[in-house]
This record gives sequence, C-alpha cells and structure tokens, in this order.
Amino acid sequence: TGHFTYDPGFGSTASTKSAITYIDGDQGVLMYRGYPIEQLAEKSSFLEVAYLLLHGELPNKTQFASFENDITHHTMMHESHKNFFQGFHHDAHPMAMLAASVASLSAFYHDDLNVDNPEDRQLAAIRLLAKMPTISAACYRYSIGWPFRYPRNNLEYVNRFLHMMFEVPSEPLELSPVCAKALDLLFILHADHEQNASTSTVRLVGSTGANPYASIAAGITALWGPAHGGANEAVLKMLEEIGSPDKVETAVKRAKDKNDNFRLMGFGHRVYKNFDPRAKIIREMCHKVLAELGVNDPLLDVAMKLEEAALKDSYFVERKLYPNVDFYSGIIYKALGIPSEMFTVMFAIARTAGWIAHWIEQHETPGSRIGRPRQLYVGADKRDYVGLDKR
Ligand code: CMC
Repeated sequence: TGHFTYDPGFGSTASTKSAITYIDGDQGVLMYRGYPIEQLAEKSSFLEVAYLLLHGELPNKTQFASFENDITHHTMMHESHKNFFQGFHHDAHPMAMLAASVASLSAFYHDDLNVDNPEDRQLAAIRLLAKMPTISAACYRYSIGWPFRYPRNNLEYVNRFLHMMFEVPSEPLELSPVCAKALDLLFILHADHEQNASTSTVRLVGSTGANPYASIAAGITALWGPAHGGANEAVLKMLEEIGSPDKVETAVKRAKDKNDNFRLMGFGHRVYKNFDPRAKIIREMCHKVLAELGVNDPLLDVAMKLEEAALKDSYFVERKLYPNVDFYSGIIYKALGIPSEMFTVMFAIARTAGWIAHWIEQHETPGSRIGRPRQLYVGADKRDYVGLDKR
C-alpha cells in the first residue's frame, strides 16, 4: 500500500549515484574508475588500486610514493589495542575478532573523527588501509596462540602482511615471490564491487554520520555471512565435504533439490548473469600458483569437476549460475598456507579499499541523506491491550 516501491533484496533499486566501480552483469564487465579489471589484475598492484579507488585517478610516481609512505607510517597497532585481544576466547573466529577490533579503533583514534572534514577522512582512510593487515594478522596469531609480530616497514604492503602472518622469531621467512604476487592479485580483484551488501551497509551506517571505523566495522560484519564474503570459507568446507570428483554428481543433485537448503557455494551472483570476470582470472591464477608452488591439491580436481558438472546442468544454465569470485580463491589461499577461517578476513583487507572509497564519496556528495528504507506493513490491525490476568 502507499506510494512505496516494494523491492525485496533491492534487486532493482539504485540506492546511490557512484563514480567508483562499474559492472555490466550481462556482459561480465567489471571496471574500477573506468579501468577494466583484467588490465588492473595484470599490470597494477593492490596499493595502486586502493589509491585509484580513493582518488579517482592512477597515481603518478610522486603521488604513489607519498601514499605508500603515509600508509607505511600508520601500520602499527596501538600497544593497548593488543591487550584488547586478551579478552577474546582463545579459539575465537578471526572475523569475530576483526569486526570488534576495527570497531574499537574509534576508541584509540579520536583525532580524525570529524566526518565533515576532508583531511580527517583521508587520515582515517590511511589508518584503516595501513592497520587492516596488522590487525588481521593479529587475529590469526591470537587464534593459534602465537605472539604478534610488528609490521616490517621495509617491506611492501602484501609481503609485510605475509611476514606478520607467518614469521617466527629468529627464523627468516622464506617466501616464494609467487605468494605475494598471488595475494596481491586476489586483493586487487576483491578491492571493490559497487553496492554489494557490505558496501551498502557501510554507506547506510555512514549516512547517519557515524565515524569511519564504526562504518567499516559494520561492513566487516555484513561481509562475514556465507551468502557474501563468507562464501570463500564455505566453498572450501564444501569441497572438503564432497571429497572426491566422483561425489560431485550427488552435490549437484542436492543443490537442485528445493527441499534441501544446500547450495553450491561459490556459485551464482546477483549481478553477473554471464560469468564473473574475477572468477575467470582467479581460475587461471589458481592453476599457476599450484604449479609454481608444486602443490597438488585434490580439492582443485573436485572444484573443476563441480564447475564442469554444474555448467552443463539445465538447472544452473537456466538460472544463469556461474562460479563467482570465491569459487577458486580458497584453493589459492590454502596453497599460500592461509587457513580457511582466515579467508573472509583476506577479503575484508582488500574490500577495505572499496568501503573507504564509498564512505568518502558519500561524504563528498552534497545533499547525501540518511538511508531510511520503508516497508510494507503486514502485521496485526489495531487492537486493544489485554491485561496479563486475562491472557
Ligand atoms: N546453488 C543452487 N542454487 C542457487 C544458487 C546456488 N549457489 N544460487 C542461486 N540459486 C538458485 C536459487 O535457489 C533460485 O532458484 P529459484 O529461482 O528456483 O528459486 C535462483 O537460483 C536465484 O537465486 P537467488 O537466491 O534469488 O539469487 P540472489 O541474487 O538473491 O542471490 C547469491 C545471489 C550469490 C546470494 C546466491 O547465488 C548464493 O547464495 N550463492 C552461494 C553463495 C555465494 O557463493 N556467495 C558469494 C557471492 S560472490 C562474492 C560476494 O558477494 O561476496
């Protein structure tokens, strides 16, 4: 009733104008600030992409050096922030710690919380980009009972993160350059995706004037769900449960059964109805990384068989369900030694670039209003209160 448009799940509602990311779901096109994802994946780096998302243009050498320098000078966690971790249960999920930890940043940094001040917004952006890998590595190390590592600021972004994850005191960490390259690529592909659930959450929270750390923490919690960023962890669990290529048919049958709520994780997308261009790049990368690291993961055979079986099944064809960005990413993370509970954390590090870019764009747009969806009321008609003794 009334004058509202009913659009459950926002399938056909544009909630904002944005100049950051373009998707053509029918053609399988994804571009950041006009640059095709394929070119960025091949030629750029995550930090350069983060700059592009935030500022709208690729940086020149001076701009990039200054950006990298700013980020490098904000990589540390406040020493008292570390104590915060001691309150978590020893085997807490890293995403639970990450969400709480990022929300708590607004308890450590009060000097950049004027959301109407462009300089404050930039400082918060730098702090978030710089500290996400440090906090994420701390979440991992706390979950396995290892001491935290300080960021090594002589390393670049992705390598620095890998060192904080895996370095053990007084033992040099031998990392294949393939690892950093693969992780950098995954970060580029996950950096932004226009108004997905977590980014829309960041904007909705941001629209109330909430501080940047609170807004991004809300994005992290939205990302955690298995229909969104939690899918990468769920894919690996699913592939492990399927176990071998000859069990694939049963999984496909179950996914089609409407009485069974099992879905093929890493399949389907609200916007892509042809293919997910990120999945194409990741599939290729997956083969390359496994070959270069000399890893022979039987889960890759299960994944390939599953993709093949689904793509020739009329159920998936009719519904235009294709592998999405998360279908092969977990196999790469696993080959890099990253445990599955950390997969969604990886996604969050990368998506922080997009979340902040959207949060800043929102605050730079004159006339932005608070987000306030309406509803169609389907509850009881007016009725009179009945006392407890009469119920
Ligand atoms: N397996 C089996 N059936 C599926 C699947 C799937 N993975 N995805 C969609 N369907 C069916 C669904 O049952 C429905 O069938 P019907 O028309 O007969 O009712 C039809 O396809 C349309 O699905 P929907 O749920 O209405 O589509 P949506 O746009 O609301 O949901 C989605 C999109 C990604 C949440 C969904 O495809 C899904 O749950 N996929 C599995 C989880 C996943 O991989 N998520 C990661 C998405 S990409 C990265 C990210 O965003 O973080």
